[in-house]
Amino acid sequence: MAKNTISFTCTKCGAVHKKWNGRCDSCGEWNTLVEEAPLSAGPKGKSLGASKGRLVGLSSLSENEAPPPRTLCGMAEFDRVLGGGLVAGSAILVGGDPGIGKSTLLLQAVAHFAMKGLKTLYISGEEASAQVRMRAQRLGLQHAPVQLGAETNLRDIITTMEAEAPDLVVIDSIQTMWADHVESAPGSVSQVRAACHELVTFAKRRGCSVILVGHVTKEGQIAGPRVVEHMVDTVLYFEGERGHQFRILRAVKNRFGPAAEIGVFEMTGAGLAEVSNPSALFLSERGQAAPGSAVFAGIEGTRPVLTEIQALVAPSSLASPRRTVVGLDSGRISTILAVLESRCGIPFTGLDVFLNVAGGMRVLEPAADLAAAAALLSAREDVALPAEMVIFGEISLSAALRPVGQAENRLKEAAKLGFSQAIAPSGTKTEGGDGIELKKLPDLVTFVGDMFGAG
Ligand code: TYD
Ligand code: MG
Repeated sequence: MAKNTISFTCTKCGAVHKKWNGRCDSCGEWNTLVEEAPLSAGPKGKSLGASKGRLVGLSSLSENEAPPPRTLCGMAEFDRVLGGGLVAGSAILVGGDPGIGKSTLLLQAVAHFAMKGLKTLYISGEEASAQVRMRAQRLGLQHAPVQLGAETNLRDIITTMEAEAPDLVVIDSIQTMWADHVESAPGSVSQVRAACHELVTFAKRRGCSVILVGHVTKEGQIAGPRVVEHMVDTVLYFEGERGHQFRILRAVKNRFGPAAEIGVFEMTGAGLAEVSNPSALFLSERGQAAPGSAVFAGIEGTRPVLTEIQALVAPSSLASPRRTVVGLDSGRISTILAVLESRCGIPFTGLDVFLNVAGGMRVLEPAADLAAAAALLSAREDVALPAEMVIFGEISLSAALRPVGQAENRLKEAAKLGFSQAIAPSGTKTEGGDGIELKKLPDLVTFVGDMFGAG
């Protein structure tokens, strides 16, 4: 029988190591390995083959299964990110930086579900009931039929859940939960994993949905939600810049709906307000056409979202000039700069480059390549792009423009917001229409010639 030994788990990527190491071999992060207590042996310490288990019920693939029942809470942004409402018996993890607004979002969501008739419990391990009540008052939700509990002992919480038989339980946060059958401190990998396992098992057994809040921390001391991502059905991240009002709830995994779906909220004095037209919001601060600004027609999940990409290019006094990229993939931007230099003959040597997405949005689609290149060129040449133009397309290493999906949706959204011109790759399968004049270009060199003269 294999001996149970202590192991070390990376709090970033979840890889398990036999020995402690300063650096995780798997993801390369430093100081993220933490010790984990050995797993307990099975009944009477026997290996699984030695004692007989019971037979598992088997069924065929063709058996008819009704789709799982779903409940809509009425906060459309939240419902959409879940894939069209809350699935009974599902386990959802909501991760995010401390202070970003997770507790606020979930208190609002749980109150809405309660008002739709679900029996709901909100268990806070971080705040006293009075604090949660005060927040509910601030949100104007004090009359919602949510039952509050302030507790960290998991055994007591599970017992309460068994007795109350709720439809939905929010655990805020998983890092504060303490399972007394595991010998390590709350917040450690073993505790977080054990607590998550117990709660998810309860959810599946009783058909009760659980929403777990998990803090994402930079330090390795407290286990990040990463170590439990595989145990839950849905993983949502709540993100945003501290200085901005916008908050984005992003589905990174969803067994019951499309991943990459986003919900957009605005943090106000009275909680999170839904933003049903994110494009208008992200473009609201755009002034006159100015050099360095390009509008990207993107797709987030199932929905088109227009964002403004802003670039600034300035002479550098540094030996290796700055490349500061916020909200876009910096690796892709380096590639685009290299393509501009070697295929189009436009060098950025000796120039500092700053690039960001207005409004604190994060754009990860390769379709943003061409808009980013346009912003960079516009800043470098000091020539403004037409204010009524949207741009999308992927740039390949050969400087060819590759078509991207859902061109029609992108154009429709642009038309809705009053744009009248669009630039897209040659292979794009749709024609303009809707009052949009669509120009299809084969490669970046043509684009440079077209927009900025000979380049
Ligand atoms: P909180 O939900 O406690 O964050 P988390 O649970 O992710 O740690 O809220 C964080 C911030 O939101 C806090 O700094 C105050 C602010 N806030 C508002 O601006 N408006 C509100 O109505 C509420 C409840 C909070
Ligand atoms: Mg909180």
